Amino acid sequence: MQRMFTGLQPSGALHIGNYFGALKPFVELSKEYESFLMIADYHALTSLKEPAELRANIVNVAKDYVAAGIDPAKAVIFKQSDVPEHTELAWVFECLVTVPFLMQAHAYKDKVAKGLEANAGLFAYPMLMAADILLYDTDVVPVGQDQRQHIEYAREAAAKFNNAFGETFQEPKERILETVAVVPGTDGKKMSKSYGNTIPLFGTKDEITKAVMSIVTDSDGERPENVHAIHRAFKTESELASLYEANTKNYKAIKEALIEDIESLTAPMREKRDSISDADAKAILQNGAERARVFASAKMKHVRDKIGISI
Ligand code: TYM
Repeated sequence: MQRMFTGLQPSGALHIGNYFGALKPFVELSKEYESFLMIADYHALTSLKEPAELRANIVNVAKDYVAAGIDPAKAVIFKQSDVPEHTELAWVFECLVTVPFLMQAHAYKDKVAKGLEANAGLFAYPMLMAADILLYDTDVVPVGQDQRQHIEYAREAAAKFNNAFGETFQEPKERILETVAVVPGTDGKKMSKSYGNTIPLFGTKDEITKAVMSIVTDSDGERPENVHAIHRAFKTESELASLYEANTKNYKAIKEALIEDIESLTAPMREKRDSISDADAKAILQNGAERARVFASAKMKHVRDKIGISI
C-alpha cells in the first residue's frame, strides 16, 4: 500500500481553506493509502509564542481531524514534537542544503518583504517539513497550492541526501486539486489565519453567517466574484451557473445560499466534534505517536548508519 502524509499547523482555528485544500482530500484518499496526519506544532512555534494557546490549539486540531472524518484507528494522527526524529532529520538536511537555496522559500521571503523579523526556525522551516514527509517514505502529500514549493524542497532534500550518501529517500508528490488549490477568504485574497479573512470550519452558525455577510462584493459586476470564488468549493460550475443566474444582483440571496451550503457541510462535523473530549483527543495523539515512532525510528536508524554517526 502506498503512503500518504500531510500536516497542519496548530496556529489557530482551522478554516474552510484548510478543509478543502488538505483535510477533505486526505479523508477521500485514506481508503487507498496508509495514512499519516500530523499536527505541526514545532512549525507553529515559528510564529506562536503563547504556551496556553498552543496547548489548546493542539487538542482542538486533534478533535478537528476526527470530526472532519479521519478515523484514528486507521490513520496515524500524531503531533510532530512527540516524534523527535523529525527535528533530528531536519538538522541533517540543513547540513546538506545551502543558505541561498533556503532564501528562495516564499514563507521566508514574504516575511522579509513585509519588514517582519524572520527567525532562524522560519528560515529552516522547509527542511523540517521535508523531514516530516521523508521519514515515512511518503508517496503523496495532499496540500493547497501554497505548499507546492515546500514539497519541491522535500524532493530536493531527498535528492541531495541520496546523492551524498546513497539511495535512502523516495521523492514524494504533491496532490493539489485545481478548484480548491487556493480557497479565497472574505476579502478575495487567499484565506489565511494571518490575514483575518477566514470562514471557520467549526464556527457556530452565527459566526459563519457573520463571516459570509462580510465577504466583500463588487456592486458593478454581473456576479459577486468573491462569493462565487468561495462557492466553487461547494458546488459544481453548472449548479453555480443556475443559482447565480436565478439571483442576478440579489447578492443577499446568493450569500444565504452559501451559508446554507457551509452549514450542511459543517453542522454534522460540529456535532461530532462536541462529542470528543480533551482526554479522547490526548489518547488519540499518544497512540498515534507510538505508531509513528515505529516508522520514524527505523528510518532514522538507517540515516544514522548512512551518514556515519552510528559507530
Ligand atoms: P498550514 O497549516 O498553513 O495549512 C494546512 C493545509 O491547508 C492548506 N491551506 C489551503 N488550501 C486551500 N486554500 C487555502 N486558502 C488554504 N490555506 C491553507 C495548506 O496548503 C495546507 O495543506 N507547512 C504546512 C504544514 C506542514 C505540512 C508538513 C504539510 C508541516 N509539515 C508535511 C504537509 C506535509 C503549513 O503551514 O500548512
